Amino acid sequence: MADLDVKVFRFDPDTDDKPRYDTYQVTYREGMTILDVLFYILENLDGSLAFRYACREAICGNCAMYVNGLQRLACKTQVKDLKTTELFIEPLPSLPVIKDLVVDLDSFFGKYVSIKPYLIPAESPPEKEYYQSQSDRHVLNEAVDCILCGACYSSCPAVWTDEDYLGPAALIKAFRFYADSRDGAQKERLDLVAHEHGLWRCHTVFNCVEVCPKGIDNTSAIQYLKKQAVGRALGMGVGKRAAT
Ligand code: F3S
Repeated sequence: MADLDVKVFRFDPDTDDKPRYDTYQVTYREGMTILDVLFYILENLDGSLAFRYACREAICGNCAMYVNGLQRLACKTQVKDLKTTELFIEPLPSLPVIKDLVVDLDSFFGKYVSIKPYLIPAESPPEKEYYQSQSDRHVLNEAVDCILCGACYSSCPAVWTDEDYLGPAALIKAFRFYADSRDGAQKERLDLVAHEHGLWRCHTVFNCVEVCPKGIDNTSAIQYLKKQAVGRALGMGVGKRAAT
């Protein structure tokens, strides 16, 4: 593969009047990821470039950014898979820029915290540990895998148009605890999400599913919670999701 022509979004709100794009020539090497490209720039061409990363193995969710028109994890995205030598790297759209590729996730995590992302058992804790069957755990598999990278949140038109919308990540985590066989706060959990800035703001656009780097079906989980909320309103009660 030929060397890379990389355009990177640059902006420091403290010193710059407006954003700009800097162009760098990066020497390609086999197996290079977008994160490797950014490190190449940082170490060889421009030490002032700011970006966020931590685990380098698609677990921490820190390096989500907008690469060639799609939300992606920089550490997981192989340059050769983009099938071009021209790269366009920007921060996650719809989030305030702190500097260059680093965005402010305070609002995103504030919404996550608002859904009470922890078990609220109905009974006092068992002496040893909570038992959960394999089939009950299976129901949670996808939702547990969410690494809160913000890619889905950034891609969602409902987030762009309603700053109070909880967004797909907070809602998949609401599902994760709602559907947990060890949890006892289903009514409270539905109350936290069944409102105009929660479940009902999702218009099943599916962008969140398309960009999720972990392959999570956020939309189905949101639809499931909607059905639960409607069922409750109709006096049908609520129930656990059947094991798949
Ligand atoms: Fe947004 Fe996903 Fe719903 S993109 S509108 S949360 S289906």
